Amino acid sequence: MKEKLKIGLFGYGVVGQGLYDVLQSTPAFDASIDKIVVKHKKERNLPETMFHYNPDDILDDPDINVVVEVIDNSEDAYNIVKKALQKGKNVVSANKKMLAEHLEEMVRLQKENNVSLLYEASACGSIPIIRSLEEYYDNDLLLSVTGILNGSSNYILSNVFDHDQSYSEALKEAQDLGFAESDPSFDVEGYDSLYKLIIITLHSFGTIVKPENVLTFGISNISEFDINYAREKRFKIKLVGQVERLHDQNISLFVLPRFVGRDKYIYSVEEEFNGVVVKGKAYDKQFMFGKGAGGHPTSSAVLSDITALAHGYKYEYKKRNYFKKFTYFKEGAVEIYLRYSDPEILKYFNFDSVSEEYKGPEYNYKIGFIKLSDLIKINDKLREMDIFIALTGKKLNY
Ligand SMILES: NC(=O)c1ccc[n+]([C@@H]2O[C@H](COP(=O)([O-])OP(=O)(O)OC[C@H]3O[C@@H](n4cnc5c(N)ncnc54)[C@H](OP(=O)(O)O)[C@@H]3O)[C@@H](O)[C@H]2O)c1
Repeated sequence: MKEKLKIGLFGYGVVGQGLYDVLQSTPAFDASIDKIVVKHKKERNLPETMFHYNPDDILDDPDINVVVEVIDNSEDAYNIVKKALQKGKNVVSANKKMLAEHLEEMVRLQKENNVSLLYEASACGSIPIIRSLEEYYDNDLLLSVTGILNGSSNYILSNVFDHDQSYSEALKEAQDLGFAESDPSFDVEGYDSLYKLIIITLHSFGTIVKPENVLTFGISNISEFDINYAREKRFKIKLVGQVERLHDQNISLFVLPRFVGRDKYIYSVEEEFNGVVVKGKAYDKQFMFGKGAGGHPTSSAVLSDITALAHGYKYEYKKRNYFKKFTYFKEGAVEIYLRYSDPEILKYFNFDSVSEEYKGPEYNYKIGFIKLSDLIKINDKLREMDIFIALTGKKLNY
C-alpha cells in the first residue's frame, strides 16, 4: 500500500486511546486516525467531531483504507471486521475471542476479497509471537509453543506464590490495579488463554481447532491446600497454554494450571507479564517475554500491524497452505494432580494409572495419568466441581 494510511478506529478504550497516543509519538509514520466509532456519547479527551456512533460512517467512507477494530464486544467486532473485509478494507484487530471463534471464515474472507487482516495484538499483547511463527518459524522444525498467555491470572498467581497472598486477596489487588476485570472469569477460567492458543495454533501448525473442543481449566478453584502442596515441592503454579506436535502429524493442545519448577523459563515470568517458549528441532528452546496487556504495550502491536499493512503485508498462513496437515489428537494422556473433597466426583475421572494418593480430613488428592479426551468430555462439569487440577508435566502417547 503506497498511499497515506487513513485509519478508521473502532473503540476508544484502553487500547484505542493507547494507539492514539502511540501514533502521536511516531510522527515520521504517515498515518492518521480520521474517524473513531464508539458506543456511548460521553466526554472524551479529543474533539467531539472525531467521534461517530454508526459503524457505516467508517465502513462506507471510501477515503478510509485501514480499519482498526479494538472494541470489547466480540459479536459486534465480528460484524464490523467481516463487513470491512467485504468492502475491500484492510483490517487490524485485537479481538482474540472473535478471531478464535471465526478463524476459518476470517481466513476465507481475506482470500475472497484480496485484503489483509492482521491481529498481532490479539495474542500476548506486545510480544510478536504471531508474526514470528508466520515468518521466522516458517519451517518444519517447530515442536511446541508453551506460554503464560494471560497477564491477569499470572499477576494473581505471582502474588500468591511470591507475596503470600490468598487467592481472593490477590484477585482483589489485581482488580484494584486494573489488571483484572470486575468479572474476572474470562481471565481466571482460562478462556482468554484459550482464544490466544487457538490463534497461535493456526500459525504454528496450520490447524484451526474450535475453542469448545479444547480442554480448558483455570485457577479460580485454587485452595491453600494446593498452594501448600506446590510450595512443599518447590514449585509455583502457572496457568499454561500449550500446543505441541506429536507423532504422525498430530498436535495436542490445552489450557491448564501446571506445577512449574525453577528449571523452566516460565518460572520467572511474574506479575502481569507474558512469556512464550518456542521449542523446535535444531534450535531447542527460545523464550519471548514481555507485556501482554495494557494500552501502550498492546497498541505497539497494533501499530506494528498498521506499518506492516503499509508495506503490503498479509499472513500467508504458510503452515496451512504449504505444509502437510496436522490433526488435533486428543488420545494422549497427561499426568494430573486432582485435588478433591467429595470422593463421589472420582467416578467422572477415568485414570489410566495412579502414582500417588492422599486422603486427609478436608481434602484428598490423586496423581495419575488420564487421557485428554476423557477430561474434554467432562470439561463443563469440571468447572462446577470443588476440585483443582494441575499438570505435573509428564505425558504418555505423545
Ligand atoms: N486492554 C488490553 O490490555 C488488551 C490487550 C490485548 C487485547 N485487547 C483486546 O482489545 C480489545 C479492546 O480492549 P480494551 O481493553 O481497549 O476495551 P475497553 O477499554 O473496554 O474499550 C472498549 C471500547 O470499545 C467501544 N465499543 C464497544 N462496543 C462497541 C461497538 N459496538 N461499536 C463501537 N465501539 C464499541 C467502547 O465504546 P465506549 O467508549 O463508548 O464505551 C470503548 O471505547 C478487546 O478485544 C480486548 O480483548 C485488550
